[in-house]
Amino acid sequence: MLPGCGKRLLVSVAGSMLTCFLVLVAEQQAPQPEPEPEAPQSFSAYFSQLSRSRRVAEGGDAEGAGPPRPPVETLSPRDVFVAVKTTAKFHRSRLQLLLDTWVSRHKDMTFIFTDGEDEELKKRTGNVINTNCSAAHSRQALSCKMAVEYDKFIESGRKWFCHVDDDNYVNVGMLIKLLSSYPHTQDVYIGKPSLDRPIQATERISENKVHPVHFWFATGGAGFCISRGLALKMSPWASGGHFMSTAEKIRLPDDCTIGYIIESVLGVKLIRSNLFHSHLENLHQVPKSEIHKQVTLSYGMFENKRNSIHMKGAFSVDEDPSRFRSIHCLLHPDTPWCPSNVAY
Ligand SMILES: *[C@@H]1O[C@H](CO)[C@@H](O)[C@H](O)[C@H]1NC(C)=O
Repeated sequence: MLPGCGKRLLVSVAGSMLTCFLVLVAEQQAPQPEPEPEAPQSFSAYFSQLSRSRRVAEGGDAEGAGPPRPPVETLSPRDVFVAVKTTAKFHRSRLQLLLDTWVSRHKDMTFIFTDGEDEELKKRTGNVINTNCSAAHSRQALSCKMAVEYDKFIESGRKWFCHVDDDNYVNVGMLIKLLSSYPHTQDVYIGKPSLDRPIQATERISENKVHPVHFWFATGGAGFCISRGLALKMSPWASGGHFMSTAEKIRLPDDCTIGYIIESVLGVKLIRSNLFHSHLENLHQVPKSEIHKQVTLSYGMFENKRNSIHMKGAFSVDEDPSRFRSIHCLLHPDTPWCPSNVAY
């Protein structure tokens, strides 16, 4: 169901943005026996669909819409395993920024998953894991990294697994607050879906037998978290080499495969949260007054335009195009390199 040519097209057009939703867009652009009018046809349509789903979510019970949930557990940063997925060519351009900002606050919470040795990087932060996966941005290479993230998390014994990309800012305080409101021993999968309906896929049962499935998944680019209780149940489909073979069975990228295992195989529902943000949504829509409440933020380019959090801050857009340094100074004004007396 995922034509190889579609994937190649995506890789060339979208570069680093191979996620589940893009696969879906590509499929919708290919001739379809039953075209669905609701299908996103372009990024612009996707953006308007996102704001529509946000309006729906705000009226619903999504996390981040109502009053904050009370804590059920006391968590410390060391209870959480944050996997940051990167690749060798982004160690300088993307990771430095994260190490300077949010990672610097809780180094032992964060694990960098990459595909090349880098002694300089290892000097800056302890937990650097060379996955030995291919540096290609293929479905297989991405699944290979997710498989290593999963295994390392299980090995760590921590209570929560969170995955983010190297273009995410994690508001650690809010992440801990959010996770503290759920018991880690129960089945919890939380994040933001990239579409306003479940993804349709086909599960390969045998050599020439397929079975249609549909499920929600949290988009990897916005970050998502899984409780230890649920992660342990995923083991038969996710541990060792099983994640790769599960991904092959549905022929979808890593974040979709996570959704497939949790929703489709285990029957556990994704908890939708508006507090996670990817560069595939219009980040200008996050109001300045709400920045401190968000769990993840992002930045990127969209149709040759810069997509980032819109805020005045400690640094100009030229000095700080991602806005992460300004966001970091807003959240942690005690940081030594943050200028004092900034008017926001
Ligand atoms: C990658 O390869 C190196 C060298 O063979 C090995 O020490 C390391 O454990 C491997 N990493 C993983 C995650 O398997």
